[in-house]
Amino acid sequence: MGCDALNIGAYDLSLGVDYLRGKEKIAKFPFLSANILDKHGKPVFIPSIIKQINGVKVGIFGICSGKLKLDKIPGSNKIKIANALDKAEEVSLRLRQEGADYIVLLTTLDIRQCRRLGQRDLPIDLIIGSSKRNRISLPILVGDTYIAHVERGGKSVGRLDVSFLGPAGVEALSPSVRFKGKSVGKSLFLLNHFHPLKLDIPDHPEIAPMVKKVETSLSRLRQIKATKSMTIAGVKKAEMVPGNSYIFADACSKCHPQQFKLWRKTSHAKAYNSLIKIDKHFDEECIACHVLGFSQPGGFTDINQVGEFANVQCESCHGPGRLHVKTEGKTKLNRDLAKGQMCLQCHIEERSPEFDLETYFHNVCGPAAQIPGK
Ligand code: HEC
Ligand code: HEC
Ligand code: HEC
Ligand code: HEC
Repeated sequence: MGCDALNIGAYDLSLGVDYLRGKEKIAKFPFLSANILDKHGKPVFIPSIIKQINGVKVGIFGICSGKLKLDKIPGSNKIKIANALDKAEEVSLRLRQEGADYIVLLTTLDIRQCRRLGQRDLPIDLIIGSSKRNRISLPILVGDTYIAHVERGGKSVGRLDVSFLGPAGVEALSPSVRFKGKSVGKSLFLLNHFHPLKLDIPDHPEIAPMVKKVETSLSRLRQIKATKSMTIAGVKKAEMVPGNSYIFADACSKCHPQQFKLWRKTSHAKAYNSLIKIDKHFDEECIACHVLGFSQPGGFTDINQVGEFANVQCESCHGPGRLHVKTEGKTKLNRDLAKGQMCLQCHIEERSPEFDLETYFHNVCGPAAQIPGK
């Protein structure tokens, strides 16, 4: 993939120190960590490198968070984690002494600790963090240090362009690039962007079957693990009036044929199939938004028994409809959907980055004034 360096984090160590060192031997790029030490205080991995890139000496070093759960790592009795901030100070000063013009820290430290490093006035020009709790995409400046983070969830490749351009060079950039980026001091220009990994990006022919194999065995494991009572954090419980329950889309088609026909054509009606196609229908991280009423009152909690709850249905948006059907429309259903706020329960930034509520809201169910008998 053209890597120059990798910083070791908790997940890399999950199969053990020896396993990772075995991988290091066959990798074509260095595994960095300045604060994973052996019992004698010697670094287990290479702490830092200096690379000549277009005439600029770039120093790169790695630091992992001290919050690593050592007891979960096989072979962890052989290692200890040195204080992250002290090590960062020691290594960055050494890199500057060795003549590095630009110093980059790769780290799993959280954003608070990255800021503290920035405040220490160290010769660190750029911190690239990977803390999974981070939500900041634009680089921020703390002291003289820029802090950027990769995006969470593995849905994008992050790209940060660091260009050493004089004021004239910056001026020569196209206005849209200049607008999106940031000039730093007299010569530096930073441009940070995330490239979404859409499914239409082709897989590497050798890697795809390997990933497929892992996915298949994961899917099997998940199916075995799936219990009969699961809840999903973050999904709000809907209310259920006594006597009411889910009755499913077919029951609505009789009186609202137009909405039914339209809904059938939308991807909502195929949302569960989208998971099946990629073998993720037993993944509790995925299912909540691709079905009706998962882990809701009157819904289902057994991922092995999706049945009629498959797909995003009328009642995903309008709420449970048994009483509405029974009383032939006299029991009102939700129509304004909290002015679209309810769409945003599923269409969250992370899953639906291009979601345009204004445009979609009035089209997702056909134009208004199609109420039967009116
Ligand atoms: C229960 C979760 C859920 C709710 C609530 C929901 N959606 Fe969706 N929506 C999805 C899922 C999942 C998909 C993707 C289906 C697929 O392709 O597998 C989707 C797809 C869409 C798409 C198609 C996107 C595309 O590019 O194909 C539109 C448009 C859309 N939703 C609009 C809305 C609007 C407007 C609302 C609110 C009125 C809404 N959705 C409420 C889960 C939901
Ligand atoms: C918080 C709700 C939510 C969760 C959780 C969720 N999705 Fe979705 N998913 C959506 C929405 C909304 C869309 C529609 C995206 C769009 O086009 O705007 C979607 C679209 C999709 C699509 C069809 C569009 C595409 O990207 O090809 C697939 C496939 C998909 N999701 C798979 C998954 C998988 C796999 C997981 C679990 C790792 C998952 N989803 C978890 C809400 C969710
Ligand atoms: C993704 C969410 C969503 C799904 C799924 C959905 N609807 Fe709707 N529905 C809406 C929204 C939003 C409106 C209001 C549209 C507006 O105000 O322009 C609406 C409006 C309606 C209306 C009222 C129309 C009017 O003239 O006021 C009816 C009836 C209706 N839907 C029935 C259904 C039926 C039946 C289904 C399933 C076949 C369904 N809806 C599926 C979101 C949804
Ligand atoms: C037996 C006929 C019938 C069936 C079946 C039916 N509806 Fe309705 N629906 C109506 C009538 C009649 C109205 C108009 C009520 C009014 O204007 O007072 C209505 C209105 C609506 C509205 C507009 C908001 C409201 O309550 O006035 C929505 C949304 C809606 N229905 C959704 C659904 C959904 C979802 C289903 C399936 C769960 C469904 N309907 C099944 C007859 C039906």
